[in-house]
Amino acid sequence: MKLRIAPLLVVSISMLSSLPVLAQDGAALFKTKCAMCHGDQGQGKSPMAPKIAGSAKVEAVLTKGGEAKAPHIKPMSALTADQVSSLAAFVKTLK
Ligand code: HEC
Repeated sequence: MKLRIAPLLVVSISMLSSLPVLAQDGAALFKTKCAMCHGDQGQGKSPMAPKIAGSAKVEAVLTKGGEAKAPHIKPMSALTADQVSSLAAFVKTLK
């Protein structure tokens, strides 16, 4: 019994711990690259930028560009794919 459960536990613990790490990275990136316009909780700063807390569009906006308005006309090319996914994961945790 113990032997069968152990590998499952290891897998689920490593999955659980990798998520917060991703979100933490995203938090740091968000602070330096997004918060000045979108607010430190993604709550938006009128009239500068809309609320993005919980948004599912982050990945699309950062890799393909936004709604033809500054500053997301173009993808944010300074961001790596890894950074984009941690940002997307972090923004989804915001409310
Ligand atoms: C210079 C100010 C500025 C910065 C920096 C900025 N944004 Fe934006 N963002 C805007 C503005 C203005 C809009 C609305 C126009 C548009 O969609 O292009 C917007 C729109 C968005 C949208 C789409 C919102 C919606 O629901 O349509 C997302 C998602 C987004 N930003 C994410 C981010 C992320 C993530 C970062 C950090 C990597 C970031 N933005 C950095 C100003 C900014």
